[in-house]
Amino acid sequence: MKYIIAPSILSADFGNLKRDIDMINQSNADWFHIDVMDGVFVPNISFGFPVMAAVKKHAQKELDVHLMIVEPDKYIHEFAQAGADRITVHYEACTHLHRTIQLIKSSGCKAGVALNPHTPVSLLQDVIADLDLVLIMSVNPGFGGQKFIHNTYKKLQDLKDLIYGVNEELVIQVDGGVGLQNIADLSRAGATAFVSGNAIFATESPAETIAQMGKVLTMGTSI
Ligand code: DX5
Ligand code: ZN
Repeated sequence: MKYIIAPSILSADFGNLKRDIDMINQSNADWFHIDVMDGVFVPNISFGFPVMAAVKKHAQKELDVHLMIVEPDKYIHEFAQAGADRITVHYEACTHLHRTIQLIKSSGCKAGVALNPHTPVSLLQDVIADLDLVLIMSVNPGFGGQKFIHNTYKKLQDLKDLIYGVNEELVIQVDGGVGLQNIADLSRAGATAFVSGNAIFATESPAETIAQMGKVLTMGTSI
């Protein structure tokens, strides 16, 4: 099983962004996780296209863009042009989710849908076959460094049940409060891609923490 580690640059040092991008390039992380917040869908504003362009310029790995914005359809093309490899939109922000998924795909990106902690997995039943990734939010979106919500484990099981025999290649991503303390349990529960911000960037050696996460995932137990 190939596990994906996606450090969230929301927790990077924006005064030293190139340094942190290089650290991720040289680490055994797989994707750059890019959190875009509009101050409407979530109570925080992060960054937009200029920062995205700066990351794209230096990143040597896939850009995994998590849109926490209303009306994402308006910007999908621009994010694809800016270098996104994957675009994940929120179920709660999309009135015409099927159309949005097709739009992401037609822009040449892999398509993901994120679910807030209160949104049941079952609501994806009629689009699950079209998706490349489902992101289970394990905190309420908007900020890094929050406490992991335990009900995530139940949702991972629900998602495994939903994809069984239909779309077993789907990437199951968890985002929020993920770190060395729970990454092994989450992988056993079915997660295959791990977003982590604070638990990587707040450590003395982020690259070493990423390496440890890789080891834990390979061994299947905490170290
Ligand atoms: C939260 C974002 C996350 C966040 C994770 O709204 O979607 O990607 O950066 O940060 P940590 O790992 O610190 O909870
Ligand atoms: Zn995110």
